[in-house]
Parts: sequence; C-alpha cells; structure tokens
Amino acid sequence: MDRGMVIFLGALLTFSSSWLGLILFPYWQLNNEKPYQKEPGDDPYPMPLQGEALAGRKIYQANGCIYCHSQQVRSEKFGNWWDENGQEHTGADIKRGWGSRRNVSRDYIYDNPTMLGTMRTGPDIANVGSRYSEAWQHSHTFNPRALNDWSIMPSFAFLYRKEKVVGERSEKALKLGREWTVDPGYRWRPSASEWDAILQQSGDAIKSRYLTEPTHTGGIDPNTPDGKKRLLDFWLTTEEEGIQIVPTGNANALVAYLLALRKAEVPVPEAKE
Ligand code: HEC
Repeated sequence: MDRGMVIFLGALLTFSSSWLGLILFPYWQLNNEKPYQKEPGDDPYPMPLQGEALAGRKIYQANGCIYCHSQQVRSEKFGNWWDENGQEHTGADIKRGWGSRRNVSRDYIYDNPTMLGTMRTGPDIANVGSRYSEAWQHSHTFNPRALNDWSIMPSFAFLYRKEKVVGERSEKALKLGREWTVDPGYRWRPSASEWDAILQQSGDAIKSRYLTEPTHTGGIDPNTPDGKKRLLDFWLTTEEEGIQIVPTGNANALVAYLLALRKAEVPVPEAKE
C-alpha cells in the first residue's frame, strides 16, 4: 500500500469514528426523548416555551447572558462540602439552592438552541424562575447593584424607559430609589455642594418625609454633619418625584423567559439525585 492510501484511510477512520461517536450514537440515544407524565392526566414535563417567554429567549441570546450563566444543575456527585460536624456531603449546586435535582437531557428537548452555557461568572439559572418575583427580576436586570451591591453583572438599563409620570405612577414602574434611577445603570450620589443646594431648596420637605417613617423617631438636625448624612441616605432610597422607569416589551419578554426557567424541580425518573 502506498503512503497516500494509508493517510487517506487513517483520516477516514479518524473522522468517521468521531462522527459516529459524537453525532450518530448520541442522536440515536437521545432522539426519542419524550416529555414525562407521571399519571396519564398530569401535565407533561417539559412544555415548550410560548408567547412572551419564547420571545424572551431571543433577548437572552442577543444580550450575551450565556457568557456568564450556565443552565445545567450538576448531580450530587459533584462538589464536596462539609457541614459543621465535619461530615462530608456532595451536591454543591443543590446545596446552593440552584435546583432540587440534577439536569438531564429531557429538560432540553424543546430548546433550540439549548442555552447550556460554559461559564459560571454568575449563578446557574436553570431554575431561576422559582427563586425570584417578577418585580425582583426587573429591578435586577435594570441594575444588578440595586439588589446586590457587590454584583459585577452589567446593567441592562437600555431595556427600560425613563419617563415623566402622567397622572398615576404605572403599576409596572420599578420601585427603586433615586440613587439607582438618576443615572440609569449606575449608583448616583450628589456632591457635597449639590446636596447643600438641594437641602436649601427642599430640605424641609425631605425632613418631614424622613420623620413620617415609623423607625425614624427622635428627630433629625440637618445642620449637623451626621444629620445631613442620615437625611441624604434616606432621600437616596426614595423615588424620584414625577419620574418612573418602565420596562419595554423586550424587558417584559426577557423576564417572562427568566420566570419560565424551571428546569430542575419537576421530578423525572432518570434523575434520582
Ligand atoms: C459579565 C457577566 C454577566 C452577564 C453578561 C450577565 N450576568 Fe447575570 N449575573 C452575573 C453575576 C456575577 C450574578 C450574581 C450577582 C447578582 O445577583 O447580580 C448574576 C446574577 C443573575 C441573576 C440572579 C441569579 C441568582 O440566582 O441570584 C439573574 C436572574 C441573572 N443574572 C440574569 C442575567 C441575564 C438575563 C443576563 C443577560 C441579559 C445576564 N444575567 C448577564 C453575571 C452576569
């Protein structure tokens, strides 16, 4: 056999065996996965995404959430941890509350593309829909620092609209203090001279609002440095007058998608852990 033939056969064998192993066998193995129903009358699991949640998956894709978030809860076998008695346990993901069982291929049968992710710069969000409310998700997407001041997640403030309130505040408006809304996506604080000017102008109103809070007994003197600081800290947590932040359609879709992520709580027979 000449050398060309050997190289050709070698290459053929290499490529065809990897094609069989990585494409064809997994396809045969997983191709027939069906939704799971414990009893005939039960809702099948999983269900395909619909409406807003389906549209939200596109927003998730387009904004690169997958670069920092995985959607795969690992089995009990991964991640050892020790309780206070020195006893060893496994299942770090489950201990973190990321799901009550590991993920299996059936969880993804309707996902195209699947959003498994590879990096965990942020937490795994396979099951994030069962962890937070809609309002939490909106505030967090608008500015993650408003919920966790140590967060390194980028702000997605461009998915929200800042507008003047006409009549009543919208029910959908985010309930965030002005420190998060004056400069969307950042944390805002006035300079010392700006704060002095604000106190000059509306100090009395701010003070009387401060005193209506049930925990603020004992009065406050805005002329002392401590009083000034306490008044500022309080004022920053109150909403901007006449201004509201409302989600755009894209923000609503993204949050509907996040709320629909419940991939690790419905029991399936193949995931015992
Ligand atoms: C640069 C990395 C990064 C990107 C990009 C990113 N995140 Fe995050 N995310 C984080 C980090 C870090 C946390 C944990 C701190 C926090 O709660 O903000 C987090 C937390 C979260 C949480 C709360 C999870 C929990 O269990 O507490 C949700 C939900 C979330 N991100 C959704 C998103 C969505 C949706 C996108 C895309 C629009 C996105 N993230 C993009 C880093 C990122």
